[in-house]
Amino acid sequence: MTPKLTFGLLIIALIGALTFSFSGTQPALAESEHEVLEHNMEIMGSAFRQIRRQARSKKFDQDTLKQLERMQTSALLAMHANEEEHITKKDDVIQYRSMMADLIKKLLDMEIAVLKEDHTAAAACVDDLNTIMKSGHNKYKDH
Ligand code: HEM
Repeated sequence: MTPKLTFGLLIIALIGALTFSFSGTQPALAESEHEVLEHNMEIMGSAFRQIRRQARSKKFDQDTLKQLERMQTSALLAMHANEEEHITKKDDVIQYRSMMADLIKKLLDMEIAVLKEDHTAAAACVDDLNTIMKSGHNKYKDH
């Protein structure tokens, strides 16, 4: 083996080792389930604050639809970030996802009510969302 060839092989081996070790560290860089849940709850919190304000002044509009969309997307992500270390038993997973599914269904109902300009139905959805949030937090959130 010529020194040139040895050097070339050494470089290739080094690149291979670096690629391997870098790909090995990627899972550690990814967000944990808990961070995904917390991040999406924060988004839901800020969107819901604005929706509640709009409900008080009975003024649902384009911005309400925007906030609802943020909540729908975040609720779907939160539904699947159910902290594997805490919620592992099949029955617990079903309970947790059912509660999130109720939340998502209510957010979709509210979207239709706002589109139809049915402000009474939309305001009733805000009350229901509040109840779902409270029972979810009572059951799953540390106080
Ligand atoms: C309208 C609906 C909801 C809103 C606006 C909302 C909002 C929030 C907010 C603002 C936080 C605090 C986030 C932070 O740590 O800064 C939070 C945390 C949390 N929420 Fe919700 N939430 C809703 C529904 C739910 C439901 C239905 C569940 C369960 C089925 C749930 C489970 C949790 C859990 C487990 C945490 C704690 C996350 C952590 O440890 O950081 N939430 N939520």
